[in-house]
Amino acid sequence: MGQGLWWGRGCPWLCVPLGGGGGGTAGAPTAVLPAGPSHWKELKATCGGDKQSPVNIDRRWLQRDGGLGDIIFEGYDQAPPGKWRLLNDGHTVMLSLESEPGAEHIAISGGGLPGRYRALQLHFHWGSPSRNGSEHTVDGQQLPMELHIVHINVKYRTLGEAKGHPSGLAVLGCFFQVSEAANSNYNTIIGGLRNISHAGQAVDLASTFRLGTLLPHIAQLSRYYRYQGSLTTPDCSEAVIWTVFEEPVGISREQLQAFVSTVHFPASGAAPLKMTNNFRPPQPLRSRKVFSSRDATASCGCPRCPFAPLLLLPLLGPFSSSP
Ligand SMILES: *[C@@H]1O[C@H](CO)[C@@H](O)[C@H](O)[C@H]1NC(C)=O
Ligand SMILES: *[C@@H]1O[C@H](CO)[C@@H](O)[C@H](O)[C@H]1NC(C)=O
Repeated sequence: MGQGLWWGRGCPWLCVPLGGGGGGTAGAPTAVLPAGPSHWKELKATCGGDKQSPVNIDRRWLQRDGGLGDIIFEGYDQAPPGKWRLLNDGHTVMLSLESEPGAEHIAISGGGLPGRYRALQLHFHWGSPSRNGSEHTVDGQQLPMELHIVHINVKYRTLGEAKGHPSGLAVLGCFFQVSEAANSNYNTIIGGLRNISHAGQAVDLASTFRLGTLLPHIAQLSRYYRYQGSLTTPDCSEAVIWTVFEEPVGISREQLQAFVSTVHFPASGAAPLKMTNNFRPPQPLRSRKVFSSRDATASCGCPRCPFAPLLLLPLLGPFSSSP
């Protein structure tokens, strides 16, 4: 019942219009059918693939890779000329980072990436007033929010072309945690949210800014997790080299609340629904490994550690109550 109401009140992010038919007979519902993340594979076979994102980052099973050194950030330390456009695309809040023709690109390389990657856009995934909403989880725990900065391998000209290659895209993921103080580096983006309350709305931000100010502290940027995965929305292309920073970015409860309570999903009929819980849950790791960077702190780095908790299980058994 609750579910019917939910889907009936618009098309939340988790609901993707299933194409086809639409047949207007017998009061058939319109194009939008419930199609949460667990149904995406029916829509796009790729979404049921073996290298999907996000994943749970289980710190007991990380494999350290000494080749994962410092990432080289280009253009992250200066506000570029021109304008940045913030958009409510109906699924998330997205900031387009395409530079003006002739301007220097914002790009990343190094850090074990097989080439140079140019920034395309950034967007966020969040929860609701009562739950955390990151996509990646750490040891099974979701954090309040997650930022994704999407980059395209400079050897490909279009997103479509890049999606056809395992190393076509590189996404930087940052977790957020609630801090006492507001993070003024997010003021420009948060200030634009009220202008894009409704799906489809866009606003040119008051100014561009140094993209690096959105990231964790610079001294922490060599601490990250790396794995091969996918886009986290359909078509779920398995074309992403993921870098997830270990250190979360601090943001105040009020700032977090601005995301949860200002923007809306597309309206279809009744009052628009607040955009909340726009995350995909963790997908099976299957045969993949998550690597930790040279400087990452969270790596046990020894194959024995994972077995310690297993040895304790029989001891804990009698104490755990089962219904
Ligand atoms: C939500 O995130 C906070 C970190 O800001 C963490 O302390 C808390 O345990 C998380 N809650 C859940 C239910 O995972
Ligand atoms: C954003 O919204 C505020 C008030 O809601 C308004 O004063 C301002 O002009 C808007 N900015 C743009 C660029 O539309």
